[in-house]
Amino acid sequence: MKGVTTDVISEVRARANIKDVISETVVLKRAGNYHKGLCPFHKEKTPSFTVNEDKGIFKCFGCAEGGDVFAFVQKIKGINFYEAVRDLAAKYGVALVETEQERQEHDRRSAIFMLYEQTTVFYQKLLKESIEGEEARKYLEKRGITAETIEKFRLGYAPNTWDSLLNYLTANGKASSATLAEAGLVRQKQGGTSYFDLFRNRLMIPICDDRGRVIAFGGRTLGDDQVKYLNSPETPIYHKGLHLFGMHLAKDQIREKDSVIVVEGYFDAITPHQFGFGNTVATLGTALTEQQAKLLVRYTESKRVYLSFDADDAGARAVQRGVETLSQIAEGIGIELRVIRVPGGKDPDECLRQDESGPTIFAGAIENAPLMIDYQIEEVLDKSALSSHTGRIEAAGNVVPIISQLKMAVNRMEYIRQLAGRINIREEELLSDVNLYRREHGLDKEERAAMRAASFQREGNYQGGQGFQRKGGNFKGGGGGNFKGGGGFKGKKSYDRDRDHNDYEEPRPERPRFGSGLDNRRAAPAGHTEAEKQLLALYLISRDDHKRVLSAMESERLLSPEHQKIKETIEGIGSAFQSIEDLRCQLQDRLAPDPRLSAYLTEIILKADALQKQDLPVDVVVMNCRARILEERMSNLIQTLRNGLVNAQDDGEEREIQTTIITLTRLAVELRSSKSLEELVLLKNKIEPMEAKYIQRPSMESKV
Ligand code: UTP
Ligand code: MN
Repeated sequence: MKGVTTDVISEVRARANIKDVISETVVLKRAGNYHKGLCPFHKEKTPSFTVNEDKGIFKCFGCAEGGDVFAFVQKIKGINFYEAVRDLAAKYGVALVETEQERQEHDRRSAIFMLYEQTTVFYQKLLKESIEGEEARKYLEKRGITAETIEKFRLGYAPNTWDSLLNYLTANGKASSATLAEAGLVRQKQGGTSYFDLFRNRLMIPICDDRGRVIAFGGRTLGDDQVKYLNSPETPIYHKGLHLFGMHLAKDQIREKDSVIVVEGYFDAITPHQFGFGNTVATLGTALTEQQAKLLVRYTESKRVYLSFDADDAGARAVQRGVETLSQIAEGIGIELRVIRVPGGKDPDECLRQDESGPTIFAGAIENAPLMIDYQIEEVLDKSALSSHTGRIEAAGNVVPIISQLKMAVNRMEYIRQLAGRINIREEELLSDVNLYRREHGLDKEERAAMRAASFQREGNYQGGQGFQRKGGNFKGGGGGNFKGGGGFKGKKSYDRDRDHNDYEEPRPERPRFGSGLDNRRAAPAGHTEAEKQLLALYLISRDDHKRVLSAMESERLLSPEHQKIKETIEGIGSAFQSIEDLRCQLQDRLAPDPRLSAYLTEIILKADALQKQDLPVDVVVMNCRARILEERMSNLIQTLRNGLVNAQDDGEEREIQTTIITLTRLAVELRSSKSLEELVLLKNKIEPMEAKYIQRPSMESKV
């Protein structure tokens, strides 16, 4: 575990509140015991991502992603467990023991941060004071950029030489050329060993992370270079698509105005800031990524996002791509997405500086910014010849994807009514096209995930009838009617069960595994996986239950390797815990380094949470679980034997296997009607010698 001790993990877990950590990426709203938001791990428009602050876990009911605070940080940042602990430890002030390798990695990044800081200062100085900076100063003056703005954005000048920065940093910063190359500030000559400055004769614009640390540069040519803006390459500290230009300066204004203006270019952010539109950030000419969209809405609570389109078509399309990302996030949390249309095809920078009326015109464009959806619809209608039959069909086809994005059915209907009139087609046709589109694109699926999440919160995860009946309710008939108590979801039981299956749907009634025609009067058995999950959950409900399950399951091996590992970990802790919560945390700490186990544990914690409300008889759960496990073992054995039958060496062996299969099939019937632990143990004792003979698996050596 590379120097991360359980103590450190435990300390970090105690300090790093999962809700706070997740809130940095996801806008969370309280919903009962939970917080809810849009899942950052899959695209959705209605929230099915839940965070349980008390239990320290998250779970998405749409994509089934789940885990603890470390799992979240690992996933969201694409880093490993160690890095996640380190990340959170640094943030919450927990000291780590470091290994040499980790110290080096950390130092490498810090070194690059420092180099960017030194470089920024170097370029700033050259812009302000040097003789060669004169041209750049004139350029900024011509563009109307004030000294204050230059200071605020820390603009600089890279001189027209091959080695100014290289010499400066190797001499003053004591950095090696190789490090500078890694930092993306210099380049190695092709085929040679010498290095040269990346930025030459350019106006330098620092790109910062949202804490304000310089992580990259954009350099505008002052000469006739073909490349108007040269940008830093990706480095260990800079990943394109994760940041928005100007965010560190705009944060407060975004909060204050509860709206954010998104533009495309460096100066389209810089100039608005100078003119008092301090809530402006830039995407730097590329499509908005999901991370950027999340960063945008982080500071806006739930309000307005204004997008400023570039007039030219390519630009519009580029933004459009990002817009879809944003639209989806926006729809889910009620963000109002609007489009700024600057008159005369100007970009915001040109608009503001055209003459004294510029700021008023820009403010007016904001004031009158149409909703994104209206803008898109108008664009489509403008381009279609509605007087012709084909034109109308084309228009209808083009508005369908737009309307389909709307989350609220009433909202969709309103647009459908309006547009049917304008395009002159029948409302029902448009509606059925929209519904088809939504189905085909899985847009209705999210609604269902959200509904599942909602019903989970209302009534607990436990859906009743899984091999034994819950006291006084939710009877599940033997014949596979998926009755789900209480939810507003009845009558839709046949919904895409295969495609959409996840653990939070009640398990489907399984086909009898032992061939047909067997007496199966018991309620359809849940799989052993589900039974094991329930059993493990019992350890986490009360001290009393814990004690009873501990002794009852002492010699039992669970079939799922992950469950078995969790069981062993619980047994390893024994009774060395102060409270059930303490036990849960200890378990989480021990399993956290393995994201897979961590995810399994999350399921069990959720299960425990749901079972807790139901006061289940421990003995029944234990018995049920052991029966399911035994059943699975018998099923495996029979399968092995059937395979063996095909390969039997002679008649004698064939007969022997046949007899064993018949015996087992009878035992399976017995198992199903067994009522006591004694009967179960008896069966188990009969089966184990067969396993020993036919299955070479060390995992079956358990004793009762
Ligand atoms: P534009 O070409 O629209 O330039 O690119 P601009 O922002 O209006 O530039 P000025 O006003 O002439 O200075 C929009 C954005 O696309 C990125 C930059 O972020 C730019 O601001 N871009 C453009 C590049 O990264 N490289 C380029 O060569 C051009
Ligand atoms: Mn421009």
